Amino acid sequence: MSQVIPVIGLQWGDEGKGKGVAQIAAGLGQNDLVVRFQGGNNAGHTIYHDGKQYVFHLLPSAAFGKASMHMGGGMVINPSALREESLAIPGFEELKNRISVSPHAVLILPTHQLIDSISESSLGAKKIGSTGKGIGPSYTDFVWRKALRVGDIFYNDFKERYDGLRDNHLRILQKDYDYEPDKNDFAEKEKKFFEGIEFLKTLVMKNSADIIEEALSKGNKVVAEGAQGTLLDVRWGNYPYVTSSHTVSGGIPSALGVQPACIGGAIGIFKAYVTKVGEGPFPTELGGEKSAVWCRDQKAEYEKEKYPKADPNSSDPFEQGIALRQMGSEFGATTGRLRRTGWLDLPLLKYAVKVNNATELVMAKLDVLSGFKEIKVCTAYKVNGKETNKIPFDLSREKIEPVYKSFRVWKGELADKAGKLAPEALEYVKYLESVLGAPITFVGTGPEEQDFVRRYW
Ligand code: GDP
Ligand code: IMO
Ligand code: MG
Repeated sequence: MSQVIPVIGLQWGDEGKGKGVAQIAAGLGQNDLVVRFQGGNNAGHTIYHDGKQYVFHLLPSAAFGKASMHMGGGMVINPSALREESLAIPGFEELKNRISVSPHAVLILPTHQLIDSISESSLGAKKIGSTGKGIGPSYTDFVWRKALRVGDIFYNDFKERYDGLRDNHLRILQKDYDYEPDKNDFAEKEKKFFEGIEFLKTLVMKNSADIIEEALSKGNKVVAEGAQGTLLDVRWGNYPYVTSSHTVSGGIPSALGVQPACIGGAIGIFKAYVTKVGEGPFPTELGGEKSAVWCRDQKAEYEKEKYPKADPNSSDPFEQGIALRQMGSEFGATTGRLRRTGWLDLPLLKYAVKVNNATELVMAKLDVLSGFKEIKVCTAYKVNGKETNKIPFDLSREKIEPVYKSFRVWKGELADKAGKLAPEALEYVKYLESVLGAPITFVGTGPEEQDFVRRYW
């Protein structure tokens, strides 16, 4: 029997999972399957197809292949967001035959979104930096055993149950936050929610375990597309600066109801550097605290005006961080926020490779480093002055000093027409392979579908 292939982000999200999955999906047949297993529309997975950019938030990044697509039982689904995203895809009516949803997936209500954003803004500087999509509150209701799931929409008491849950949420908003939504605005949100519910009813419902086990037993391929990243896992990330689901490959059997033995080695995707959206510790951040505050408070337009062309080789790491953001277009695919930027962090990356059993690696965005003369990689941490290979229990409470190793950057093209990497780039890639203990099979050389170097055939 074949095994599920997890495709997992090894950092804080936005590693290039969309492009990676789309590329795998291009090689799949109509009996194969691409599944999202957790998270919701906090995800933003970008792909370029025929020169046009698409960002998937809920649908697996496989719309332009032949494989079937499944939204699994561990997801939280905002029905109106799903409707909007689906209808924006050219030829969706045809694509629809390839899509199924698990009845176990949890519904995100308009009030979940309100609770998410109102509770976040009440935290001020202590906020998590959530996407405001209602992810935390919907998963909270689920583990609190109050949630509505996709399968509930087919029962006659759905509206009654919806009203009950909504009224509970409105009471919480009033009592805890002294907040009452604008009546017209809220009515519009509810209208869209129910349009989304009608749309959901037109999709095929499939139990995740059934559809996956059937595909595997026939020897077909099943790809599990992770959302967010390992360091955002609710338990194994930098808690509390995490999302509310299990993003690591170990979360797959529980999210989809399949046996743990069905899960194969993961394809781990990481960027040649690191980015992070939202709050929380980031040991290798260029510009440190100054960058964290800047990215929290400033808008992309203001940054562009203030730093029309930041210098990647500036002596000021803060400016280098801005340059990296500009060169990598590191602006949130879901919220448009400034992504914090920093050097590759090997202690965290090694941890992510281990947690996920990543047996194959994809390094995205190496091209983005082309403007630098020298790049750095963090090889170890000094915690309170002592060098260690261990990740501290709470990164945000320790004084962490990264130990860096420098690499020279290629002067001309990153890769030639035959797909051969420049010697300096190859040295960097081989060093990472030796430290991480897994082959880097693909190296990203640009955002478009065809922009990669394949290293092993
Ligand atoms: P995801 O959430 O992991 O799917 O990643 P995002 O889509 O949020 O962010 C990754 C961004 O990098 C997207 O804009 C991609 O188009 C882009 N990207 C992916 N791979 C590469 C690459 O190798 N080089 C460059 N320059 N851009 C890339
Ligand atoms: P993809 O799948 C990057 C971050 C948010 C915030 C924290 C909690 O595109 O990689 P949430 O809305 O989940 O409660 O926010 O997690 N976050 C992401 N960061 N990429 C994502 O998804 C993210 N999804 C959530 O910025 O810090
Ligand atoms: Mg993203």
